[in-house]
Amino acid sequence: MFIQNCWYVAGWDHEVGADNLFSRTICGKRILLWRDANGDVHGFDDRCCHRGAPLSCGRKEGDSVRCMYHGFLYDASGACIEIPGQDRIPPKAGVRKYPVVQSHRWIWIWMGDPERADPALIPDTHWLDDPDWACTPPGYLHYDVNYQLINDNLLDFSHLSYVHPTTLGGSEEYAQLRSQIERLDRGLRITRWFMDRPPAPFVAKLLEAKGMTGNVDRWNNYDFLLPGVLIMDSGFAPAGSGAEKGQRKDAIEFRHCQVLTPETENSTHYFFAQPRNFDKDKPEVSEGLFKSILTAFEEDRVIITAQANNLEPGFEPVPCGLDSALAQFRALIAKQIDKERQEGLGQPVVFSAAPGHHMGM
Ligand code: FES
Ligand SMILES: [Fe+2]
Repeated sequence: MFIQNCWYVAGWDHEVGADNLFSRTICGKRILLWRDANGDVHGFDDRCCHRGAPLSCGRKEGDSVRCMYHGFLYDASGACIEIPGQDRIPPKAGVRKYPVVQSHRWIWIWMGDPERADPALIPDTHWLDDPDWACTPPGYLHYDVNYQLINDNLLDFSHLSYVHPTTLGGSEEYAQLRSQIERLDRGLRITRWFMDRPPAPFVAKLLEAKGMTGNVDRWNNYDFLLPGVLIMDSGFAPAGSGAEKGQRKDAIEFRHCQVLTPETENSTHYFFAQPRNFDKDKPEVSEGLFKSILTAFEEDRVIITAQANNLEPGFEPVPCGLDSALAQFRALIAKQIDKERQEGLGQPVVFSAAPGHHMGM
């Protein structure tokens, strides 16, 4: 079961070009994403209502999509507008259309009740295309595990010391630190300050080039929002320079944006990018950071996949103090799924041609 009434990232903007019919499975449903002549993105069930062929195997015709099995033609609302050889279109002929919004390089899709798809609920990731920030290339990894295991990982940074000693972590002291955790409307706010220590390996050279050779104060402060969205303010400043009080003149800062979108119960899409406020005109810094981050995220994928393959039915985890944030977040997800189940969501949605069903956004 997945939360239905929330925005999921369906892809990077460049994945859905002017001409291609892009298909991706999200929360167990195959979704077709395509652009009309204005460049607006639409999301349909990727299954022709006639006999079920994927529409992504079809053809774009202006602002319509034609199934290339027997030729049913669909307009941008998902309604079937042409059936070869007959004038009458059955009222039920159409495919489900999902609310879709492109916002700062990501394409977001709402899997639940279209009436509740409020774009104001889309998390702010403006750093991804803000000219005041430089960004790493668009990141994507595929995981063969349930998304909640990756949420768990991102909600407990103590793993940096053990999974990423030569990349993001660097010292076992980092795992001694306890995060400060606050509840938000749709998630948690995590605060971690690590003061007066050597810098993490992945930024050591960058700091050295700026003459920052001594100890640093490091922060990883992030909001983690339903269903699995991490927006992080992180950075490094000379030790004692007052970054924790807002003095960031000599600091280097990042705004990591990372999202997990369930593909199925046992697989996950992971989208990520690392905007920064320094060396903005140096593509080689973007490339170098991207390589380091990818190496580190592969380290996560190895241990999380091994963990997933090792979990037997009936295994009872023994909780400890490190688990506070992830336990709270799992409870938030369970509560939301339960609420939606009581409201009758989470059931298969049957196409209805009633006006208003095809919500365009
Ligand atoms: S399956 Fe699409 S037109 Fe027949
Ligand atoms: Fe990690």
